[in-house]
Amino acid sequence: MRTDGSAGNDAHMTEVTGKDPLVLFMPSGKRGRFPVGTPVLDAARSLGVYVESVCGGRATCGRCQISVQEGNFAKHKIVSSLDNISAKGPKEERYESIRGLPEGRRLSCSTQILGDLVVDVPQDTVINAQVVRKAATDRVIERNAAVQLCYVEVDDPDMHKPLGDLDRLKVMLERDWGWKDLLIAPHLIPQIQGILRKGNWGVTAAIHRDMDSSRPFIVALWPGLKNEAYGIACDIGSTTIAMHLVSLLSGRIVASSGTSNPQIRFGEDLMSRVSYVMMNPDGREAMTKAVREAANMLIGKVCEEGQVDRHDILDMVFVANPIMHHLFLGIDPTELGQAPFALAVSGALQYWAHEIDIDVNRGARLYMLPCIAGHVGADAAGATLAEAPYKQDRMMLLVDVGTNAEIVLGNSDRVVAASSPTGPAFEGAEISSGQRAAPGAIERVRIDPETLEPKFRVIGVDKWSDEDGFAEAAASVGVTGICGSAIIEVVAEMYLCGIISQDGVVDGSMAARSPRILENGRTFSYLVHDGQPRITVTQNDVRAIQLAKAALYAGIKLLMEKLGIDHVDTIRFAGAFGSFIDPKYAMVLGLIPDCDLAEVKAVGNAAGTGALMCLLNRGHRREIEQMVSKIEKIETALESKFQEHFVYAMALPNKVDAFPKLAQVVTLPERKVLADDGGDGSGRRRRRSRD
Ligand code: FES
Repeated sequence: MRTDGSAGNDAHMTEVTGKDPLVLFMPSGKRGRFPVGTPVLDAARSLGVYVESVCGGRATCGRCQISVQEGNFAKHKIVSSLDNISAKGPKEERYESIRGLPEGRRLSCSTQILGDLVVDVPQDTVINAQVVRKAATDRVIERNAAVQLCYVEVDDPDMHKPLGDLDRLKVMLERDWGWKDLLIAPHLIPQIQGILRKGNWGVTAAIHRDMDSSRPFIVALWPGLKNEAYGIACDIGSTTIAMHLVSLLSGRIVASSGTSNPQIRFGEDLMSRVSYVMMNPDGREAMTKAVREAANMLIGKVCEEGQVDRHDILDMVFVANPIMHHLFLGIDPTELGQAPFALAVSGALQYWAHEIDIDVNRGARLYMLPCIAGHVGADAAGATLAEAPYKQDRMMLLVDVGTNAEIVLGNSDRVVAASSPTGPAFEGAEISSGQRAAPGAIERVRIDPETLEPKFRVIGVDKWSDEDGFAEAAASVGVTGICGSAIIEVVAEMYLCGIISQDGVVDGSMAARSPRILENGRTFSYLVHDGQPRITVTQNDVRAIQLAKAALYAGIKLLMEKLGIDHVDTIRFAGAFGSFIDPKYAMVLGLIPDCDLAEVKAVGNAAGTGALMCLLNRGHRREIEQMVSKIEKIETALESKFQEHFVYAMALPNKVDAFPKLAQVVTLPERKVLADDGGDGSGRRRRRSRD
């Protein structure tokens, strides 16, 4: 079947000889020989180089633009020249006079090969000058969207050949585009006659086909040439919903936006939302309605920003953690609240968007990535696709830190995944002065090891707190609390300065050295900011961070044990939290195992990037579906060694594991055990349970 939309020119199907022109396509690097006269579009398609087309080679859509590089490309043995392509013909000139062509661009459907060429395929051909936002991701995603726009000119009705309008439309879609066995979305059937006549028998059909084995569907129909279609890639997080509006034809991100998840009003963390469902008869419906309304609102926002009609959205890809996945799809998440954490469905899902109450084009489809396990969701699958540990020889650790950390570890041989109940401490909850990242929140902290005096930076102010003019600059936002990234830093700095022991006990004897060590009954705290409010790090705060990081590290250790490895080569932090924490401090605290610091990278919303990849290239859907079926799932709650790893990981950075690479760049304190500490990080003496 031909689904490439190239014009019907079979010149290149004739026998190719070694004397035929050699054509190299960039950036793919694919090359081949083609007889003189072959349209460049056909040459590209025959090599599997993606070049968009809507009009089927009529030189009216402008989607097939390319440019020819000139020069001697000795490495490829090609001398490429504009003389080696045909001059512009009347159709291309007509297009140029009406729509314009950027300098050096040609329509590949109307450009014939006359000699050796190096051809550039631009990655983002913009037809209608839209508002374009900075790309959310720099990666180039090869396009093979599930939706394709196909323009056809249907024969007029003929009394002697009583074939229906739809049937004649199907005939042309097969003849010009190769679509066989087409189905049609039922809502279009009553509209067909009006659309065909309005377009004077020229119509554009949107064809959706996800799997090669599935029957293609006509999902939308417009009179005349419809030259743009959009998609949505969305990550539904517990706290934030993030969305990209993308051109399905050019691959360009037109707008990106986010909003807080309105389900927060039913419970801050995931488990409290499951409890809400269990305790309120209408709880599931209310939460499903809230998250769908938020998605619809966000679609309105990105469409407004990108000046796009929401009814031009034809395809959507969603990722979410398992509980959000269930609630969004209207599934009761109660089973996910208790062992064995059974998902109602783990495989990828396909819906009509209107079945999920999403208000876009009536024929739009919605694809949800598969979940990996009961607590490792479609979001982790998206991040796994984006970072692709399974394509690497090196051992990659991928961590998404949230209230429930999702952990994926592996390489091209084997990949394992688990989740760990870190709780909300890393997000600033359960911390006495903790708050979400917002203007006024402390985001960076340093402590002078001699004087134990802190300096800090707050969100919204450029200066450090010890710089001149800080007080004036911070006057408008205030200094209101500590956000997650700073909690990691302040506890790590307290440890590096000896204010807390390896076991996390705030050392009261330091009060003799600094008035910032404050006594609170039987424990001590550290004063970060003596203002309104007073910001301290208490013993309980340190414990909360220890518990969270120990849960994360224990989960990672279980996975490392499963793979029989004692170190990882590279670490990726996914999610907003990972973008703000300093890898050095994360390692000082022992959130993550020892690793070359240069190999620890924040990758932002990798889950959203995975959704974007699946939106623009349906091949990625198959890739992650197959990969998820191969990933070995480890349930941390059922692993007996989890507790042992957890206890060791309560220490800073760890009671038993060495951090030699970290020690090359940071001087870690000598171990000191304080009088009130039993060494288990609990702050109490305990009996030795292991000898
Ligand atoms: Fe439409 Fe070339 S394919 S202009």
